Amino acid sequence: MKRVKAIYPGSFDPPTNGHLDLIQRGSQIFDELVVAILGNPEKEPLFSVPDRRKMLEVMTADFDNVTVDTFDGLTVDYAIRVGAGALLRGIRAISDYEYELQMALMNRKLQPGLETIFMMPAEKYSYLSSRLVREIAKHGGAIDCLVPPLVAQKLREKMDIAHKFADSAAANSQAKSTTARKTKRKRKS
Ligand code: PNS
Repeated sequence: MKRVKAIYPGSFDPPTNGHLDLIQRGSQIFDELVVAILGNPEKEPLFSVPDRRKMLEVMTADFDNVTVDTFDGLTVDYAIRVGAGALLRGIRAISDYEYELQMALMNRKLQPGLETIFMMPAEKYSYLSSRLVREIAKHGGAIDCLVPPLVAQKLREKMDIAHKFADSAAANSQAKSTTARKTKRKRKS
């Protein structure tokens, strides 16, 4: 019988409950599923690739046919390198469809033997995205129901560091302007 290995490529910055839902569904229909983190995105990520890899490894530890890997360059080249015959992507709403269709057709043009399979996450995750999670975390909103516990903890740690950094930068600039005012006054007197 033919065994099907699939890759599930993405940014996973950070991984969410929606990603986990899709991984679980994918693990049921493919013999092997590789969650593949893109290492060279155009935008600056919140989490480093090793951080994202660690989070995904913990999240997928209970699935014995799921592994986590990272890649650079074209997804289709990576798929061929690891011997995958299918590429898994999630579609949450119609708004995802246009971009996903374009990407699937381009990937098919580049590598006709690689099939893109779309799966839908549970409805309760249809509004969930990594971008929204980052935004909510940044403003101190509740993230526990949106991401696995380890991801929530890592997000809080990131935001604490960012806040401490912002506080110390603000304190530094306040100190600088106080010194500048004092110097100005001294010069005048
Ligand atoms: O989680 P994302 O950001 O929606 O994932 C997008 C991803 C990583 C699947 C896509 O950007 C991608 O495949 N990038 C690798 C470069 C590539 O192959 N580009 C051509 C796509 S047609």
